[in-house]
Amino acid sequence: MSKILVTGAAGFIGSHTVDHLLREGHTVTGIDNFRTGRRENLAAAHHASTFTLIEADVAEPGVAENIAREFQPDAIIHLAALVSVQESLSDPGLNQRLNVDATFLVAEAARRQHVARIVFASSAAIYGDATKMPIRESAEKAPISPYGAAKLASEVILSGHGASYGITVRCQRYFNVFGPRQDPASPYSGVISIFARRYREGKGVTIFGDGRQTRDFISVYDVARANALAATRAGVTSGVANICTGRATSLLEVAAVFAREHPTVPAPRHEPPRPGDIIHSLGAAEAAAAALDFHASVTVQDGLLELIRPG
Ligand code: UD1
Repeated sequence: MSKILVTGAAGFIGSHTVDHLLREGHTVTGIDNFRTGRRENLAAAHHASTFTLIEADVAEPGVAENIAREFQPDAIIHLAALVSVQESLSDPGLNQRLNVDATFLVAEAARRQHVARIVFASSAAIYGDATKMPIRESAEKAPISPYGAAKLASEVILSGHGASYGITVRCQRYFNVFGPRQDPASPYSGVISIFARRYREGKGVTIFGDGRQTRDFISVYDVARANALAATRAGVTSGVANICTGRATSLLEVAAVFAREHPTVPAPRHEPPRPGDIIHSLGAAEAAAAALDFHASVTVQDGLLELIRPG
């Protein structure tokens, strides 16, 4: 069993990752400053005697290192971030601090405290408007937002530390993650979280465009498992991998599942496509399979049904 430090532990992906690690019997210290993380996300984790939560900001110099010195983790899973692309556009300075500077502090904490592994929450946003599907890890990196640029910069910083100081670094390029605890607060939140809330409230949804656009939607349960594999699997070496399913699902297919489960809710309204919207995004899943033996196992259909009928 391993000791794992998780930054952003109270977030959407962080809290599921913590839950998964605890179920597997690992000892976990979580860090969160609750800027966007939520205390209720850790309700289950708090029942485990092997879980410790520290309320702190990893973007503050010294914080990650002090906690790593105290806890001596085998791996750090760095998920703390500014998670909204829109917020990165309106406040690129904050994006720099939370999505680039904090990564360097985590890399330094690992170097100075001799942490063997770092797992990093990267994003398909580093590819920008890729046109060739499926997107392989070797595709051109052309981020089109400060958020995407910061995730790419962080990968580079971590790879440099990995190669220079013998730290195993796994960069996990998440595609469109969905599942319980995803915040539907803004119009730019993940489309499935928005649909889930609107259907639950009996309100119709808006589809931007004809609904034939596709995404590689991956369940947060699979993402949590991929993070745990990257942090704990024996023999893993440094590298980057898409964390995706390799399957495309259209918005019409997503809406159809909700409509079937909520027959009285009005049909979706269509509005013109959002400016800058990409039509298709699909990842190639082979690298994660080869490096981590990770295969997404939750279908979009099952993931949606679990979201709609919890328990
Ligand atoms: C992701 C980012 C977005 C960024 C874009 C850049 C997330 C949650 N969003 O968007 O901030 O600008 O990459 O490529 O990571 N949609 C609807 N109705 C809604 C909400 C969304 O039809 O109420 C559509 C969108 O227009 C889009 C699709 O659903 O076509 C998916 O949207 P979203 O979940 O925001 O993800 P991305 O488009 O991949």
